[in-house]
Amino acid sequence: MTAAPWWHGAVLYQLYVRSWRDSNGDGYGDIPGIIDRLDHLSWLGVDGLWLSPTMPSPDVDWGYDISDYTGVHPEFGTIGDLDALIAEAGRRGIRVLLDLVPNHTSSAHPWFVDAASGRDAEHRDYYVWADPAPDGGVPNNWLDSTGRSAWQWHPATGQYYLHNYLPGQTDINWWEQRVHDEFRRILEFWFDRGVAGFRIDVAHGLYKDAELRDNPPALTPDDLASRFGQRTVYSAHRPETHGVYRVWRKIADGYAPPRLLLGETWTGDLAALASYYGNDDELQLSFNFPVVFAEFPDELPDLIEQTMAALPPGACPVWTASNHDVGRFPSRWCHGEPASIRLALLVLLTLPGTTVLYYGDEIGMTDVAVPAELQRDAMTRGASPQRQRDRGRTPMRWNDTPAGGFCEPSVTPWLPIGPAEVNVADQRHDPGSVLSLCRRLVDVRRAELSGGLAGYQRVKSAPGVWAYATGSLLVAANLAATPAPLPAQTGEILVRTGRGAPGLGPAEGIVARRQAD
Ligand code: GLC
Ligand code: CA
Repeated sequence: MTAAPWWHGAVLYQLYVRSWRDSNGDGYGDIPGIIDRLDHLSWLGVDGLWLSPTMPSPDVDWGYDISDYTGVHPEFGTIGDLDALIAEAGRRGIRVLLDLVPNHTSSAHPWFVDAASGRDAEHRDYYVWADPAPDGGVPNNWLDSTGRSAWQWHPATGQYYLHNYLPGQTDINWWEQRVHDEFRRILEFWFDRGVAGFRIDVAHGLYKDAELRDNPPALTPDDLASRFGQRTVYSAHRPETHGVYRVWRKIADGYAPPRLLLGETWTGDLAALASYYGNDDELQLSFNFPVVFAEFPDELPDLIEQTMAALPPGACPVWTASNHDVGRFPSRWCHGEPASIRLALLVLLTLPGTTVLYYGDEIGMTDVAVPAELQRDAMTRGASPQRQRDRGRTPMRWNDTPAGGFCEPSVTPWLPIGPAEVNVADQRHDPGSVLSLCRRLVDVRRAELSGGLAGYQRVKSAPGVWAYATGSLLVAANLAATPAPLPAQTGEILVRTGRGAPGLGPAEGIVARRQAD
């Protein structure tokens, strides 16, 4: 019998490196800063970290424009620091995943610099180049992530190049076999160093239509199904991309323990999401964006059942509600309501599969409105407040001092720090805090839901109550504004988000042992 994968029933912690802990006074978080504070993570009980991009980058998109896939960004430290982090985390039973960006490189990457030097350049075909349309305009109607044309004219060589994100993020041409060889080497480089896996950026990207056909108009304005009024039928989710993951999975499985591939699979279609698991021969984990964007809590019960039904048997679902693009769930899902924040953590941490917390989720950090003059994200500068990404990237609040324990008091952090009231130090010793609740839930999760994939079954309950059985547990969440009785199967109550009334208070949730009914 092979052991269950470590990510079944696990908790991953997305750590936005630039915003967690600045160790050297430049206002940016860094790797030595992470090592300093690893005890917070082992105390919280997480199984693994996903570090936002750590590789060298000109930072037009804060690391998602990589100029060297086997290096470490000098602002974050050295490769020796990263090795030390992997070792120190490992000593605490915590695995480290890196962020890999295979859809595009930085335009400063040596491959692109060479590709741009001439039509016959060695690396020309590593990128997507196209001649002007017959009328001299852009090759097709594809749009980038800001809504402008995804094509940039390159006068020196008389062709356009493709950028599905910013012009400094040049799309890779996955039809070129040498690109596959490069990425095999990159994967092996990091796996050999003890990296536990990758979060794969724009995992639905990679291949583009060979004929570069126009994208059709969108059927709905929904962000998950469309991009500025287009369905990205030809510029993303191409069938050939699955072949890349089949190869990468073989590479990952060749290691002991197997390395983990977690895809940023941006789709509103659960069948498309499921397709990235393949026949248990592609990604082991795929982010579920329909859940991220659901109305909390009302849309969750049905959506979770639909997810379970859509995934292939044995596939491990992934639950997350905050990240560096979409902002924080205490704001988006819960509108800052304490009871709702507590209920959301209870649900996230009791669903079978892998739960990914974003730094600050554990203390209920909310989005921070960053004034225009302090905004740092070029991609969403000037966009509507809900699209701006800086709001969810502000420094971790370690304590209530002006610098928040993120950096020294004399240093200006790269983004403003949120309100002092929500901080680790105050919550750590308060048994009623969000942090104490979160830690208790992580603990129960590890004890009851790890070591294999637990099931999920709705349980009959009073109107307005969402109850489910998973592993040995019964979870009940009162979605209504009025008190409700506990489900009949409720045994010993292990965690309560509310005050301990006899039943379930409004927006209250419980985790209990499950009794036969
Ligand atoms: C992903 C990242 C996002 C980045 C984009 C382009 O969506 O999460 O931050 O801007 O890819 O790399
Ligand atoms: Ca620093």
